[in-house]
Amino acid sequence: MTTRVLVNIGELTTNDPACGDGSVMGRMHDAAMVLDEGQVLWIGANADAPAGDEVIDVDGAAVVPGFVDSHTHLVFAGERSEEFEARMAGQRYDGGGIQRTVSATRGATSDELRRAMATRARALRASGVTTMEVKSGYELTVEGEVRLLGIAGEFSDEVTFLGAHAVPSEFAHDRDGYVDLVAGAMLERCAPNAKWADVFCDEGAFHVDEARRILLAAREAGLQLRLHANQLGDSGGVALGVELDVASVDHCTHVNDADLDALASCDTVATLLPGAEFSTRSAYSSGRRFLDAGVTVALATDCNPGTSYITNMALVIALAVREMSMSVDEALWAATRGGATALRRDDIGRLSVGSRADLLVLDGPRAAHLAYRPGGAVVAKVLRARR
Ligand code: NIG
Ligand code: FE
Repeated sequence: MTTRVLVNIGELTTNDPACGDGSVMGRMHDAAMVLDEGQVLWIGANADAPAGDEVIDVDGAAVVPGFVDSHTHLVFAGERSEEFEARMAGQRYDGGGIQRTVSATRGATSDELRRAMATRARALRASGVTTMEVKSGYELTVEGEVRLLGIAGEFSDEVTFLGAHAVPSEFAHDRDGYVDLVAGAMLERCAPNAKWADVFCDEGAFHVDEARRILLAAREAGLQLRLHANQLGDSGGVALGVELDVASVDHCTHVNDADLDALASCDTVATLLPGAEFSTRSAYSSGRRFLDAGVTVALATDCNPGTSYITNMALVIALAVREMSMSVDEALWAATRGGATALRRDDIGRLSVGSRADLLVLDGPRAAHLAYRPGGAVVAKVLRARR
């Protein structure tokens, strides 16, 4: 196996408290690393760097773990820019536009969907995302959801069944019939093609009781659980997520103190999605409030055609810093180790011996450039371990 030695790392963020300054960021200066195609083999002082097959001199740049984007909806056809413009002019987001993407996606060939997905995945990877979760949810038929999960699985191991994204128009007068389908035949066909199950549990979407039923059936079918919760209102989704010990409750725009207390005393991560708040012109959730309460926070793009067509994780970090009162380090941790925790993974989101060799060389001497230069080309090089 070929070994690579990264030398002259000006500032290294490992997210490993056993490394460097002993903080949660595990920060070192004047560092070096040795990797092979799969994992990190050695981390230490630049002066002690051993020899390797290939030397990469990063010339004083900052190095950080690859981003873990734990929430995306990348398999879809069409676009909804008119809805975005209407929202910028004052219209409220209510989830109704999902039906437009469902129509477009049902009408697309698998090759069209695969090509569109590939373009988005390429953009995310170029922005520094080395692991991405991908959800279904834009066909809402048994065979359609199986098709979307299959395409998602060509790009990621973190694939999520989201049959409960909306009630499709053909079930508009038989909502219970659709919940029966999702928790029954659809789940049965989809479970072998997914790792996770998710439900859009919110005002105007699925109620807490419907979400509980679907998630319990999904767990029974061998899937792990995550949940869209409290994006549009204080809907009880966060409490349900904690009750079911889901890996992550996502959005959390509207939460009360009891939700925060509950989250702080369990393993469920709160995944905040400032791109959705940006693109729906909603008030940002307060990352500060979550962190001060002791909740584990992740940041993700939520890349989707309706509420957050964002393929740039550094921009998400910048939004969290500017709009959610998170420090740069808190936002960087949330976009790396936080995302990994939201996927219940220990091998990614950090750089320590034995972890995956997923890392970013930045164009700048400090990780702070990720938020300091919003929209800039701050990620200079992405190294991703062979899967
Ligand atoms: O995470 N909230 C539900 N799902 C997506 C949006 C879906 C859409 O509008 O197409 C989200 O924001
Ligand atoms: Fe989402």
